[in-house]
Amino acid sequence: MGHRPGRILITREEIAARVRELGKEISRDYDGKDPLLVGVLKGAVVFLADLMRTVEIPLACDFIAVSSYGASSRSSGVVKLTADLSQSIVGRHVLLVEDIIDTGRTVAYLSRNLETRQPASLRICALLDKLERREVEVALDYVGFTIPNEFVVGYGLDYGGLYRNLFHIAALERDAGEGGPA
Ligand code: IMP
Ligand code: MG
Repeated sequence: MGHRPGRILITREEIAARVRELGKEISRDYDGKDPLLVGVLKGAVVFLADLMRTVEIPLACDFIAVSSYGASSRSSGVVKLTADLSQSIVGRHVLLVEDIIDTGRTVAYLSRNLETRQPASLRICALLDKLERREVEVALDYVGFTIPNEFVVGYGLDYGGLYRNLFHIAALERDAGEGGPA
């Protein structure tokens, strides 16, 4: 198929430890606020499932889905809402949970969209931040790891729909033995 998960960038243990820290911060910051965690499908599902269980205060969760047109390993910047929330967020403390922030276009679009619905507050939590690639300025409130400009898979992140089920985060690599351009 040309590409496969290679070198491990972040281990299962490192992810679990960092997710626990984020959960503690969120528990402190949102105490008494019953936050609504909004996971961005499908990439944030694994992260959200782990994160929400490290949060020690009452919370609700919901999901939203977007697709960005273009090749599977690059974001085109044109974002389309493909599934909406199941409930109103008026007056709610919303925490948007994303797998990775790359150019920033997806999360910029989503926060503009959600802000128009009058939440009491809106913050962004991303497992991974590929800061070097940023094209649109976005303020991230909680970040798991800042990573270099490499395409990664695992722990919810996919390449062509695959590899979301890995426990760790790995760099996507060209298959050995395949010479020439792909
Ligand atoms: P952005 O709009 O450029 O910030 O792109 C964000 C989206 O692109 C993420 O939600 C992912 O779906 C996808 N993406 C960006 N970088 C990667 C990567 O390294 N691995 C897997 N998906 C990625
Ligand atoms: Mg995504």
